[in-house]
Amino acid sequence: MTSMSITAGSQRATQFTESVIREMTRLAQQYESVNLSQGFPDFAAPDALKTAACEAIVGDVNQYAVTWGAKPFREAIAREFTKRYGVVVDADTQVTVCCGSTEAMMSTMLATVDPGDEVVVFEPFYENYGPDAILSGAVPRYVTLHEPDWTFDPDALASVFNARTRAVIINSPNNPTGKVFGKGELETIAALCRRWDVLAITDEIYEHILYDGAEHVPMATIEGMADRTVTINSLSKTYSVTGWRVGWAIASPELTGVVRKVHDFLTVGAAAPLQEAGVEALALPDDYYTELAAAYQRRRDMLLGLLEPRGFVCYRPRGAYYIMTDIGGFGFDDDVEFSRYLVSDVGVAVVPGSSFYHDLRLGRTKVRFTFCKRDETLHEAGRRLQGVASRATAR
Ligand SMILES: Cc1ncc(COP(=O)(O)O)c(C=O)c1O
Repeated sequence: MTSMSITAGSQRATQFTESVIREMTRLAQQYESVNLSQGFPDFAAPDALKTAACEAIVGDVNQYAVTWGAKPFREAIAREFTKRYGVVVDADTQVTVCCGSTEAMMSTMLATVDPGDEVVVFEPFYENYGPDAILSGAVPRYVTLHEPDWTFDPDALASVFNARTRAVIINSPNNPTGKVFGKGELETIAALCRRWDVLAITDEIYEHILYDGAEHVPMATIEGMADRTVTINSLSKTYSVTGWRVGWAIASPELTGVVRKVHDFLTVGAAAPLQEAGVEALALPDDYYTELAAAYQRRRDMLLGLLEPRGFVCYRPRGAYYIMTDIGGFGFDDDVEFSRYLVSDVGVAVVPGSSFYHDLRLGRTKVRFTFCKRDETLHEAGRRLQGVASRATAR
């Protein structure tokens, strides 16, 4: 089918809608609501990073860095991954610095997937993966994570792998569910990857945000997976700098070669002074990460304590900084209607659950809250949520 008019947009661009999450942020501003929809902190970034970024700009690190990333930053990324997880990474041939993990994912998909190839995606999913698949021409095959523990049925997973499968996308710790994939689950996925010669593309941007003793296991540490995994990460969440747009992909030298080519022509490179500051970030002591996780666990518990007494059924996250809730008890027709009511009448913005599912029905009684916010913000949300009512009395 050809476009009806020159202004209609390409077939690719018209296959997906604008981001629901970013739309909720706009509605939050319109209604002056407390924004617990989009996952960006409303508290300060670490001073050490801000100082390092300012010094880099004043020191005139203001021109293009090497397209695949400044060497000291790539070395820091490789060093930390090896130190933490015992997988040897060569900074010169295996690391590509991108404009956030968003671009790392898009460059990886464009570099590795051909139109018509199938890509396995777990749902509920981080909403970018659908458009990522469409833009790269892939056919997404969805596998459901089932609440309350967000487990998958190994047979259902096995049934979507076939000769056309090119990649599986895994996000652990997971947005929106807070699931942390266990080693056994990763081994199940890995066995299918090896059997069908499939790539694992893993989004690990919440690797340090873990609760209740949960442990992050990178797919690249699973036997036989280092060469068939692209590990994606960024500064955004770990260092509370989502606006910096600095991320990276770690992969085998062969895969890195193709990812770098796409990345170069897509964006040329990530901000050079912020890569300098990234070297500082990755050199922070272990205490930084322990305190980060502890602070988020406290916020998680605070939000759980505000939501559960109000009638939200909460799925307790083990990682990342979101709480998926079931809102079936409020009697609204669906998640979108309930989210609009919350943002306009109650004054709290959330994300409708259906935006995380390709099978919209699975999200119809769910909404997602984020808790990467100051105590005051969470308390204010709690105060407003005292006004939440069931459908019978809300309108
Ligand atoms: C799972 C996941 N991946 C990627 C991103 C975007 O990361 P970045 O800022 O590095 O592009 C987000 C942001 O919310 C996310 O939740």
